[in-house]
Amino acid sequence: MKWFILSMTEENTPLNDNKVITLRRITRRNYREITRIEVKPKQRFFIASNAVSMADAYFYREAWMRAIYLGEIPIGFVMLGDNALKYKIIKHFKPFLYIWRFMIADKYQEKGYGKKAMQKDI
Ligand SMILES: CC(C)(COP(=O)(O)OP(=O)(O)OC[C@H]1O[C@@H](n2cnc3c(N)ncnc32)[C@H](O)[C@@H]1OP(=O)(O)O)[C@@H](O)C(=O)NCCC(=O)NCCS
Repeated sequence: MKWFILSMTEENTPLNDNKVITLRRITRRNYREITRIEVKPKQRFFIASNAVSMADAYFYREAWMRAIYLGEIPIGFVMLGDNALKYKIIKHFKPFLYIWRFMIADKYQEKGYGKKAMQKDI
């Protein structure tokens, strides 16, 4: 499924280098480095820390989370809410997907990586 939120378009993506943006599962191998990714100090009121988001994901069945990588460098975090994960029998519910958390690390912001991550298939 493509994300068309924020009207982001592929042709305007100003990637600064050839490294590819990927969304990767968070596992026991990488979760600690994901907790160390932070937004700019002035943005801290906008979003929970990634550690808190992971704790939320543990308690809320509808949470779907991935780490955002630039090549092999973890640069961000995304968490969606997906009611298909919450309700096992979805025939009575309309599919409903929303962005719960989305962040790119301070020094990697404003380079087009957030846009590129938004455009990834999930
Ligand atoms: C929001 C955020 C993920 C954007 O990531 P980014 O990699 O810097 O974004 P990009 O460089 O890919 O920019 C994509 C577009 O969003 C716009 N944009 C980026 N940050 C923005 C912001 N804080 N407010 C409004 N627009 C923003 C850019 O101007 C660009 O627009 P354009 O396509 O018209 O040129 C990043 O600023 C961030 O982590 N912020 C703190 C966390 C947060 O507020 N998350 C959202 C709430 S959960």
